[in-house]
Amino acid sequence: MPILDDSTAFCPFGPKPNRDSLLDYSIGQTLSTGMLIPADRFRRRIPTQQMIAMCGIAACALKNGEVGPVLYDCLKRLEYRGYDSVGVASVVNGKIVVKKDKGKIEEVEHELRISDLPGRVGIGHTRWATHGAPSQENAHPHTDCGSTVAVVHNGIIENFMKLRQELEAQGHIFKSRTDTEVVAHLVEEHLRNGMGFVEAVRVAVKKLVGAYALALICASEPDKVVCVRKESPLVVGTSPSGNYCASDIPAFLSRTNRVILLEDDEMAVLTADKVRLIQIDDGEELFRDPFTVEWSVETALKTGFPHFMLKEINEQPSSVRNALRTQPIYLDLMASALNKAKKIFFVACGTSHHACLAAAYVFSNLAKIEVTPVVASEFIDSFGAIVDQDTVVVAVSQSGETADTLSAVRGAKNRGATILGISNTMGSTLPRLSDVYIGQNSGPEMGVAATKTFTAQLSVLLKVAVALARKREVVGKNDLAAIEAGFNQLPDWISILLSTQRERVGSIVEKYSDRPSFCFLGRGISVATALEGRLKLLELSYLPAIAYPAGESKHGFISVVEQGYPVIFAAPKDECYSKIIGNVMEMKARGAQIISIVDEKDGDVAKLSDETIIVPSGIPSMLSPIVYILPLQLFAYSMSVRKGHDPDFPRNLAKSVTVH
Ligand code: F6R
Repeated sequence: MPILDDSTAFCPFGPKPNRDSLLDYSIGQTLSTGMLIPADRFRRRIPTQQMIAMCGIAACALKNGEVGPVLYDCLKRLEYRGYDSVGVASVVNGKIVVKKDKGKIEEVEHELRISDLPGRVGIGHTRWATHGAPSQENAHPHTDCGSTVAVVHNGIIENFMKLRQELEAQGHIFKSRTDTEVVAHLVEEHLRNGMGFVEAVRVAVKKLVGAYALALICASEPDKVVCVRKESPLVVGTSPSGNYCASDIPAFLSRTNRVILLEDDEMAVLTADKVRLIQIDDGEELFRDPFTVEWSVETALKTGFPHFMLKEINEQPSSVRNALRTQPIYLDLMASALNKAKKIFFVACGTSHHACLAAAYVFSNLAKIEVTPVVASEFIDSFGAIVDQDTVVVAVSQSGETADTLSAVRGAKNRGATILGISNTMGSTLPRLSDVYIGQNSGPEMGVAATKTFTAQLSVLLKVAVALARKREVVGKNDLAAIEAGFNQLPDWISILLSTQRERVGSIVEKYSDRPSFCFLGRGISVATALEGRLKLLELSYLPAIAYPAGESKHGFISVVEQGYPVIFAAPKDECYSKIIGNVMEMKARGAQIISIVDEKDGDVAKLSDETIIVPSGIPSMLSPIVYILPLQLFAYSMSVRKGHDPDFPRNLAKSVTVH
């Protein structure tokens, strides 16, 4: 069972769980009985949240000058990636020196003067994940028993518990609750066995399972920084006065614009006058020329995209992958609570509500359990009278601070309900009000319109649905296995969609940009896709768009349709497919122009359509909104830009709505 902090969990209530009690806690025994642990015991004993830290790391090897001001500057530029604790380390006179504490960079600077850190090589770290528990001991860098190695890390080491137990059996003493610390002790172990620093890191990281960007320094080889990349971002900057690595380019862009991109399973050894690239697998040296980045710092923050929204749309292969990393124990805790409940409500606003709508379809069709998704502002008025101790409320909020969602949660709590929270913001209020909490691990979302956080929320909710279906034994193993396999393929399907359809969507926007309104239709699980597509277009281009369950459209909406009216269908080849063909024909017969999002093996809907956007085949229908929403995000983005609006800052909207 995982322990704590960066990659894992802590209790948002009261004291931090004691490590030993967590290790002793037999989750399997308790949960296999299907028994729901009372909420107050959740609070006391169980790690209630799971997360991957979205941190920023930086490192440098300098010819002249001290590392302190350089690291401080880099970390300031990475602060948008995290701001609850900060730390730096360097090698001074053959010894590792560490300065670290909880708090924002400015606070820690004021207290410890991190910018005064001496030394020619150094590493630094700033954390994203905040919640009551950031502490000095858990802040990075982490060191080994003998303080010969210091490491900073962004990502998650999935097998750290097993590694930690092995290392403890060998006599290693751990000081923190992080997954990261195992790396320091693993490297120490290899150094003790006579390996050099670079080789010790290379061999050590071969044991790690998960995603990580690492930077390490070593007391016995004080001229080097060793950096490693697997699935978490890491770039190298090179210049005549020194070499750098960081989670992203803006961190060092004021010092150099000569950049080398590290690929997965590669390491870089930085010294003041050289960067060596090494393949982790076989230790072979690699050669890759740096390229010149012409970006301003602002453009670099957007990694070259013109807007944060487009950057965030394009981040979805990795943000969905991160969301799907939710550890089984937390899914199981939620599934246990849901299985015991007599009433289940999904409570959220806006885009988060749409994630709940899609999830409710899956809970019903896969886990065979009734769920009522409700807009948070209506929840207590409509359902407060029937909320009681047998009720479970699943509250979903990217920000964790939406006033309507929080007041629904408080109202439900006061009536004795159990609260299961899903949020992207660890330090927010929702996790603290929740009995069990899962972080969606999307990283900060800067665009006001929710994009990557929608697909991440849905990914987490669908994982919970699968855990519940498994617990209830209501679905055949093969069906569940097909969905699990689909989870693994989602990042690839998203990548294919983004790389093949962006231009296509752009050309459709160009052609239809003079239309005063659009309608979005879908059936089954795609009703949620249609509603979310409409919300994106409406809020970003200010067009009065409409969305309906396609079957309902003939009960009123159809009177709006006239020659040339654009109707957008989300039409996966699922159990509703034959019915949606009928709806397309109804619209076409009234002169509508049909834009459809269809499977690449589609026949009928594509033939009836004026425009098609093609989605890869093979996506299980229950996962389809996670891919089918992407063209609609791109559509809204492009329409907003086409109309001369700023998609990152739509008028009248705030990222977090903290008023009722
Ligand atoms: C739409 C959007 C909003 C939010 C809503 C809830 O793009 O971003 O509709 O989804 O305000 O916000 P959270 O999820 O933070 O509770």
